[in-house]
Amino acid sequence: MQLFIRMMMVCATMLSAAFMSVGAQATGMASVSVAGNSKPLQPIIIQGPMPIEAQHFAALLKDVSIEKTGSFVFYKGTLNGYPVIVSQTGKGLENTAAATAIAIERYKPLAIINQGTSGGHDSKLAVGDIVLGKRVVNIGNLKTPSKKAGEGSNSLTWIPMDIMASSGSAGSDDANKIRYYQGSPELLAIAKQVKYQHGKVVEGTVGSANFWNSELDRIAWFHENFGTSVEEMEGASVAQIAEAYKVPFLSIRILSNNITNGGHYDPNTAKECQAFVKDVMVKYIETLQN
Ligand code: 5AD
Repeated sequence: MQLFIRMMMVCATMLSAAFMSVGAQATGMASVSVAGNSKPLQPIIIQGPMPIEAQHFAALLKDVSIEKTGSFVFYKGTLNGYPVIVSQTGKGLENTAAATAIAIERYKPLAIINQGTSGGHDSKLAVGDIVLGKRVVNIGNLKTPSKKAGEGSNSLTWIPMDIMASSGSAGSDDANKIRYYQGSPELLAIAKQVKYQHGKVVEGTVGSANFWNSELDRIAWFHENFGTSVEEMEGASVAQIAEAYKVPFLSIRILSNNITNGGHYDPNTAKECQAFVKDVMVKYIETLQN
């Protein structure tokens, strides 16, 4: 009788483990688990806007399956036995916000890294240097002062606007401020330990907008007023959505161009950035596995 009860208990344990794994698939969570622990691991999402900013990393994963929805592509695989999903978001804030929300809802990630190329706002940074986003800011969230017809427009007088300041109108003066999103201190600390051979790695401020600025005075204005190290078109939208869902987030951006010091565009930097982010992830996964 005792043996029968024990066998029933073993069967019940096996059944609940099987249900957990089916549940994981239904929610889209990666079903990789630590040996002796049937709980599925929460995957890490690595985002890259363009194919040259995502596919090198996707090729580093093992056991890859591809999921597509709308224009979004997710390469689901493992890195050193841990579930990692490379998300090719497309360029710009809207694509990236949508890809982030889809990834969070489908895969319940542990953390999100947004990485790729950027343009320098700081003349001390060279093409090939990497900025770790201690903070990220949307530099397209701006208001203009009032001007009459015929008075023209001067973007150097525009006022920062925090669309998250309140649920009321952004027209009121209490929205006249800069909203910074902080990078995850834990991810930042790990990224700072990683060695990189192609340039400097610095902590900085990543500015995002659907805008490619080539006016040196306007770049200087952002650098002085917002403290931007680089500009790109995605990070702030990820930061905003990740904060809404309380998912740890870090932006890692390489300079592919920097007109403040004559640094010419180099598309090869996209691959160097992914190689660096891979090293960061290897270290992060080590800390998770210990
Ligand atoms: N300004 C804006 N975006 C840039 N990118 C690289 N350099 C710049 C720059 N100077 C990135 C954006 C976008 C694509 C155009 O390249 O993030 O994905």
